[in-house]
Amino acid sequence: MNEIYRKRIKKALLLLKSAPTSQALVLSSNPPATRSRDTHFPYRQNSDLYYLTGTSHQSLILVLRPHAAEQVVIVAPPEDPLKKVWDGAQPSTKSLAREIGATQLLSKDPLSAVRQLLRGTDTAYLQSVPGTVSAQLRKDFAERSPHALRGLPGSVIEAERLTSRLRCIKDASEIELIRKAADLTSASLLHSAQFIKPGIRERELAVLIEYLYRLHNAEPAFNTIVATGSSAATLHYHELSRKLRKGELLLIDTGCELDMYACDVSRTIPVSSETQAPLEAVYECVLHAQEAAIRAVAPGVRMTDVHAVAARELTYGLKQLGVLRGNISELLKKGAYKPFFPHGIGHSLGIDVHDVGPGPSDSLGILEKGMVVTIEPGLYFSKPTGKIPACGVRIEDDVLVTARGCEVLTAEVFPKRLEEIRNIVE
Ligand code: GLY
Ligand code: MN
Repeated sequence: MNEIYRKRIKKALLLLKSAPTSQALVLSSNPPATRSRDTHFPYRQNSDLYYLTGTSHQSLILVLRPHAAEQVVIVAPPEDPLKKVWDGAQPSTKSLAREIGATQLLSKDPLSAVRQLLRGTDTAYLQSVPGTVSAQLRKDFAERSPHALRGLPGSVIEAERLTSRLRCIKDASEIELIRKAADLTSASLLHSAQFIKPGIRERELAVLIEYLYRLHNAEPAFNTIVATGSSAATLHYHELSRKLRKGELLLIDTGCELDMYACDVSRTIPVSSETQAPLEAVYECVLHAQEAAIRAVAPGVRMTDVHAVAARELTYGLKQLGVLRGNISELLKKGAYKPFFPHGIGHSLGIDVHDVGPGPSDSLGILEKGMVVTIEPGLYFSKPTGKIPACGVRIEDDVLVTARGCEVLTAEVFPKRLEEIRNIVE
């Protein structure tokens, strides 16, 4: 594992070095987030720092300076014996320094220590995470008073501009971790699906899925959405209060985060065997659009091009359903599908569920081999429309861009054909 982090740090140093002036990168641990007074949310490490070090240390700073004698430095406060009594020991900085080939600097004043390390740097890549040394340095830089600026670099750039260039292409170990997250998501979904029946509440299913994640040392990568009938038309529905009803569709959007890597899938499932015919037609239309969009994923293609493929299929389907009328090209030009498909086709996936890399509306972001993106078209009817009852259908998979096309990493997560789904649910 250590070699992985050394390799990533080397890549970051090379990127910093490629500029004609001296550049440095400063990354801090996320500060623990307060829930109320002295109670905290579960700790989540900063994704950029984790990517380069693999550490879960809660008060560590990594400084990369290719122009200095000590190119890789970790700054941390000396161990606090009282904190150790309450929260346990932090991971050893000495071992981390050895593993990643860094110099260790223990300091009670990390802000001054980092300022000192940045002397002679022209440009610093700094994060804007509140409560970090980087955020304080950015504030000092913005104030521009001679005192605050003393020793600071001449210019400051958001750290993500650099880290996203490293993180957007996944290496083999990352793809393996996403596959593992997909396996656990799959097992949890399949197990939970046997409890799908009219009368149970959305929350019961969501809690069961997330219980299974936690039982296997994972976390939900985001709040699981379980939405049935009309509640599925709310994209990020979180009430989870409705009961499953016969004949309706159930939308589950979930994924675990295992060893810091996320999975994110959506499946839409009939609650009972006698699904209303117009709902089946909406389902087939979304499935068709998703399959066409996945076929479009390849190196050199933009996410907006993939979106366009799905939009065309959905527009065609909406016309078949009698929801839209007119010429397909005209309907597409007008964006007539947008009230029924109001979100993007997908997003990058990795350490963050909405990861760095080409986003849904990023016409500049071109897909490259090694990127992982979700493909998640949907159709939503917030009120009955013609024969279609209020409903939401979304089908989402995680897709790895390969040399010639793509591989669906979540192909085994849960079936998508209605006949196969019925075999599991009934
Ligand atoms: N799965 C939730 C989202 O992509 O927003
Ligand atoms: Mn998603």
